Parts: sequence; structure tokens; C-alpha cells
Amino acid sequence: MSASVETVILKIGGSVITNKDSNRFEIRRDEIGRIASEIGAARAARPMRLVLVHGAGPFGHTMVTNYGIAEGVGVPKGIEGFVRTHNSMQDLNYVLMCILRDKGLLGFPIQPSACIRQKRRELISFDTAIIAGLLDLDDGIVPILYGDMVLDESIGASVVSGDAIVAHLAPALRADRVLMGTDVEGVFEGDPKTDPAAASIPTISAENLDRVMESVRGATTVDVTGGMQKKLIEIRDKLGGIGVKIFDALAPGNVERALLGRQVGTEISLRR
Ligand SMILES: Nc1ncnc2c1ncn2[C@@H]1O[C@H](COP(=O)(O)OP(=O)(O)OP(=O)(O)O)[C@@H](O)[C@H]1O
Ligand SMILES: [Mg+2]
Repeated sequence: MSASVETVILKIGGSVITNKDSNRFEIRRDEIGRIASEIGAARAARPMRLVLVHGAGPFGHTMVTNYGIAEGVGVPKGIEGFVRTHNSMQDLNYVLMCILRDKGLLGFPIQPSACIRQKRRELISFDTAIIAGLLDLDDGIVPILYGDMVLDESIGASVVSGDAIVAHLAPALRADRVLMGTDVEGVFEGDPKTDPAAASIPTISAENLDRVMESVRGATTVDVTGGMQKKLIEIRDKLGGIGVKIFDALAPGNVERALLGRQVGTEISLRR
């Protein structure tokens, strides 16, 4: 037990670990392997309690879109879509866990649909005690969660995004830092994929938050959980007291730098 070391939550977007741009069900094993090595190197240099959350890419977003279940499962084949989307996310998670295992990390998958319930697509309960217990047992264990489909009290079942999981988990675990790796360098004044001239925003504070929110949109890819815009809303609404970095996890070295507390991407600190 070592409750004195930092608790860090690292989210790796579906845009990093899958071919989200081309909307193909392909896992970027090389990127996951590189990220696992960087996690190992950072932890060797700086002990920390680490929770990993990963996104979905097509394994979640495209499944939900194809089955038409973003607003609930009361549609033809809705239940099949719910189960198949969950299965698809478990497939992605299993491959990721195996790659982490091959790199010597003690990744411990936690099935979000077994500990989270929602109502009207909002998270209403999340039993985080087991995740805290795993970290207390030994901080070499890395609990891994992921975007998933979960039971929803009003619409049967709904998507919980990796971002929403992070936003709930960080305060519950009293995390010191939240790191969100995605496929762009950070937050820009416009979507850098459609507006290459958009200026990057190095820091977001309570002072410029409203102005930033006006310029940020979702994602150009298939994304049922609101892309960058919803990511920032989750951070604004739930992570006000915790330092967050949004950075490019496809750039080699960035995950390690972020874990070591070095400067990467956009830094968000909303403490007043
Ligand atoms: N102002 C902005 N600054 C940065 N990115 C933006 C902005 N507006 C829109 N985006 C888009 O947001 C995307 C990142 O969000 P997205 O939800 O697709 O990634 P992710 O969370 O890493 O993936 P997943 O949801 O599958 O886990 C970028 O690829 C970019 O195109
Ligand atoms: Mg996203």
C-alpha cells in the first residue's frame, strides 16, 4: 500500500488506438505497444498509481451508429446492437490488455457495464471501490476501463464515453492529474483537421474557458460522444479542481512526457 504517491488517470483516445479517421475496424497495435513502453518507462522513473481509460474509435462509435442506438435501444435490433457494441469494445480492450501484458504491465480490465448505470445517457452510479482497492493492493496494478454500453434507467441502454468515465473517476479516486491523449496536438481555436490555420491554445483557465468553448466543435470522424467539445464540457463540469492535459498521444514520447509531468499539449487548470 502506498497511498502517498500520485494518482494519475491516463485516457488514450480511440483516435489513437484505432483507425478512427478511416473508420476501419483496425487496431493500431504498434501505437499501443509504443504507448505501453512509454508507460513502463515513466513508471520506472516516477512511481504512481495509474488508471488507464481507453476510447472506442469505430469499435464503439461506428457500431452504435450502424445499429442506430445512440438515443436508446428501443429500435429494431437495438438489443443486439447493445450487446454487440459491448462485445466489440471488449474485443478491443482484450487486444490492448494483451499488448500491455507483453510489455510487462499489470493491466487489469474493469468492465464498465458491470459497475456503471446511466439515466438519459448521463452517468448516475459508478462503483469505484474495486478500482481504488486494486490500487491500494499494489500500485503496480493498472486498472483499465473503456468506453462501453451500459444499462440506462430511461432508455434501456446507452453509451458511456471514456471521457465521462475519466470525469467521474478522477474526483472519486482523488486523482492528482488527468492526461487525455488524442490524435491532435491539443485544443485549437478551430478543428485542426478541417482548419489547418487554427491556432493552438496552450492553456485553458477559468478566464478563457467560455471563449474556448465557443470555438470548439465535436469531431470530423464518426463520433457519438461529442468529440473535443463534449470532452471539454466533461472537464468543465466535473474536473474543475484537477489539472488536465490534452495532448497528441500519436507523437512518440508524449505519453511518457505527460506521465512525468512535463509540458505537452494544452494544459487546463480551472481552479479559481
Ligand atoms: N477546437 C478543436 N481543437 C482540437 N480538436 C478538435 C477541435 N474541434 C474538433 N476537434 C476534433 O476533436 C477530435 C478529438 O476528439 P475525438 O472524440 O475524435 O477523439 P478521442 O476522444 O481521442 O477518440 P474516442 O472518442 O474514440 O475515444 C480531433 O480529432 C479533432 O478533429
Ligand atoms: Mg472522443
